[in-house]
Amino acid sequence: MKLGIVILAAGRGKRMCSTLPKVLHPLAGQPLLMHVLHVAHQLGATQQVVVYGHGGEQVRSVLADQDCLWVEQAEQQGTGHAVMQALPVLSGMDRLLVLYGDVPLITPETLRRLLSVSLDTQLGLLIAELPDPTGYGRIIRATDGRVTCIIEEQDATPAERTIREINTGVLVADHACLADWLSRIRNDNAQSEYYLTDVIALAAQSGVQIATTQPGTLAEVTGVNDRVQLAELERIYQHNAALQLMRSGVTLADPARFDLRGSLDAAPDVSLDINVIIEGRVSLASGVRVGSNCFLKDCTIGSDTEILANCVIEGAEVGANARIGPFARLRPAARLAANTHVGNFVEIKKTTLGEGSKANHLSYLGDAEIGAGVNIGAGTITCNYDGVNKSLTRIGDGAFIGSNTALVAPVIVGEQATIGAGSVITRHAPPDQLTLTRATQTTIPGWQRPQKKSE
Ligand code: UD1
Ligand code: CA
Repeated sequence: MKLGIVILAAGRGKRMCSTLPKVLHPLAGQPLLMHVLHVAHQLGATQQVVVYGHGGEQVRSVLADQDCLWVEQAEQQGTGHAVMQALPVLSGMDRLLVLYGDVPLITPETLRRLLSVSLDTQLGLLIAELPDPTGYGRIIRATDGRVTCIIEEQDATPAERTIREINTGVLVADHACLADWLSRIRNDNAQSEYYLTDVIALAAQSGVQIATTQPGTLAEVTGVNDRVQLAELERIYQHNAALQLMRSGVTLADPARFDLRGSLDAAPDVSLDINVIIEGRVSLASGVRVGSNCFLKDCTIGSDTEILANCVIEGAEVGANARIGPFARLRPAARLAANTHVGNFVEIKKTTLGEGSKANHLSYLGDAEIGAGVNIGAGTITCNYDGVNKSLTRIGDGAFIGSNTALVAPVIVGEQATIGAGSVITRHAPPDQLTLTRATQTTIPGWQRPQKKSE
């Protein structure tokens, strides 16, 4: 049975008070619509269609690499009208599942349950029972419990408004039946819209047994209408992510002060202090400890490595048993082998640092290949850029670079070489020897410091 998924995302999102289309506002670092597309992918649908409208070009360009079709709904004439726009491109599908682009926390488990309870019928609804159902379409049932129709809030009588069973908006329907029902709905209602919910009465009238199921939690069916709701869903997302990590063996100093904006693959006995932000794809091997206020993006950290407070690590690879920070910055293509030490105010970019090498204080290492057992003195700078070209610095195993050395690339420092403090190295420094560039120190006897004239 071929499943097609329709994601409604044409609404204006006026209450966001934003120039950014609502479905592009980020939750956990990803556009709302991405979350829905991600869930849709997991259901193994044959085709997915996003119905876009407001700010459509922007939405399409941000999500251009997504595996889905795009259908424009130029004028927002209601949810039924929106689904109608998608029908032609879904012609080969047997069943259609309707999702909302601004309801990001829906889970594949809930949707699989909806699909399975609806297997033997033409229509299934995801419904919920709310303490305060205001604003939602109400589920109307006959005395025998069968669903007969949905009444929108604006069209409901006071008695109907007391019903707490509501329509979440998510439904699954047989494609041919849905097309037929949609061709018969009208917009003679309080909002002059074509309501998708009007197909329920048509289905019931033709004898269809309407299946229903409920979501695992209400957060799954909560939509984002304004930034307050967006922040609430963000917290729920983060809470769930934190619980999942803790249950898999990660210690979080405070689950309320942890943010996951991507995916974290963490082995058991990883521990994260407060205010750690994870972005992109991050992998932490067992025993990794991350101090407070660290930002980790697209990086891999080896086992038992300790990252001290206030580090920013992006696009880097760090081996086992290393010690990074506090206040270190690892930039893309920084590759640090096992047992390396990188200390405060050290910036490393596109550089390999061999096993056991150390750069403990105040350095910039860019475009460099640094061997094993190297000691980089405080204040060492690779001068990798001449304003036009980036050039390489090579430092052999066991070299010792004195403090405040400027390595003017391209340049090579041999194995076991020693560079005297304060040197500006512009030429090959041979292995095993001391190389230094330093003005001779002089003392001027009897020199007098200038005196201020007394007034
Ligand atoms: C809809 C349901 C209501 C349900 C509620 C759940 C209808 C008529 N009503 O009401 O029963 O309780 O959702 O939140 O379906 N959209 C379009 N094109 C349009 C109109 C809407 O793409 O022309 C999209 C919106 O972007 C949004 C979704 O459809 O993602 C729902 O639209 P919204 O206006 O929020 O529907 P409600 O009136 O809240
Ligand atoms: Ca809504």
